[in-house]
Amino acid sequence: MRPGVYIHIPFCENKCPYCSFLVFEKNKISKFENIKIKYARALKTHLKLWKDKLNINQVRTIYFGWGTPLTLGEENLIDITQYVLEIFDPDQIEEISIELNPSPHQKVLKFIKKFNQYFKNIFRIRYSIGIQSLQPEVLKLAWRDYNFISVSTFLRELRNLKQQNNVINLDFIAFGIPRSSNKKDLSKFRHPTYIKFFTDLANSSFVDSFSLYFLELFAWSLWYKYLKQNKLDIKDEDSWEEFNYLKQIITQAGYSRYEVSNFSTSGKESIHNLIYWNLEPYIALWVWWAWFLPQQNGTWIRWENIKNIYEYINIISNDSEEAFSKATKQEVVSHQDLLFEEFFLRLRTKWGIKDIRKYTPILQSSRESKIKELATQDLINYAPPALKLTDKGMDLSNEVITLLTS
Ligand SMILES: C[S@@+](CC[C@H](N)C(=O)[O-])C[C@H]1O[C@@H](n2cnc3c(N)ncnc32)[C@H](O)[C@@H]1O
Ligand code: SF4
Repeated sequence: MRPGVYIHIPFCENKCPYCSFLVFEKNKISKFENIKIKYARALKTHLKLWKDKLNINQVRTIYFGWGTPLTLGEENLIDITQYVLEIFDPDQIEEISIELNPSPHQKVLKFIKKFNQYFKNIFRIRYSIGIQSLQPEVLKLAWRDYNFISVSTFLRELRNLKQQNNVINLDFIAFGIPRSSNKKDLSKFRHPTYIKFFTDLANSSFVDSFSLYFLELFAWSLWYKYLKQNKLDIKDEDSWEEFNYLKQIITQAGYSRYEVSNFSTSGKESIHNLIYWNLEPYIALWVWWAWFLPQQNGTWIRWENIKNIYEYINIISNDSEEAFSKATKQEVVSHQDLLFEEFFLRLRTKWGIKDIRKYTPILQSSRESKIKELATQDLINYAPPALKLTDKGMDLSNEVITLLTS
């Protein structure tokens, strides 16, 4: 088995008002420097415990994500990566990914330069930069601490640093926030300068892939509260309009939509994310969501870590098999759940489902007529037994999947 490794870094400078991830704001944690060191140590110990428990000798990818990994400090990120390369065969690692914010830009560039030097022999280093928007009113409202000028300087300098084994991914969100409430015309979400800049970026050979997200607000985000209190005017149709506009620029520049929110040039797809979407094995270092590992007897196990980060640090500091079982619980995944997960994840990719018959237990009994109807609406391509979403179907993937499965 050669799993992917997800390394969860749940710290950020500040919590963005639209963010739904469980992140801790650096300044609100007492003795953050101390916690940082302990957490970095716990991650390494947990990785070693995974290795011993499952007898893993090789890993395929390493992914630092979730919050702002650089908050853990460049020395800790380098140290953890070196540790992974030390205990596993470095030649088997296909990709190291790191999520980064474009600010403070000198600090981020300095880190990239250093990381590139340290790991120049790794097959691929993927930097995923959360630009989110280029519009000043959006960046301000979203409390992002950079502006169009600093982002363009950052990207210019990043371009000079980019080395052959680097893949640059940029994250954008279609916020659907108008430039001005007076503007009724179609350009209300777009300032010509930013659109030109975005178009030039997409047409440069510098950016290898884009992640373009539709704004999603969950109940525990601040903007959700504002929306309910009518303090914020965001409409789904506006986010869709912006999403489609940006999507068109990206696809016209030659990027292929390989997953609902991801666009890439050929061969530059995220290897780590493909592991999730193909339901291949991965392990995770502190995160409380579920993940899967196939067992030799053909069943699958879902593992879940303890949710409280302080308890996690304390338990894992013991470095024993007992500590591992206290911190990481397992359950067998039912065949039905597994099929659903696989159907949902694969259908969201451009490769789709190879043989729909495999999913009979989770599909509607009237699926043939549903499929016909969806094909007539240009939402799916059906070449029995293969099924794929069209571009329009990808935009409505949740609705299509619900129609087929519930
Ligand atoms: C796990 S986040 C971490 C990235 C990094 N901390 C940042 O914000 O720049 C990965 C990506 O999720 C996207 N994202 C975060 N909140 C979102 C939301 N409410 N709706 C849609 N996408 C969101 C952003 O594009 C972000 O870059
Ligand atoms: S959007 Fe990114 S930087 Fe903002 S709080 Fe969420 S993870 Fe942190």
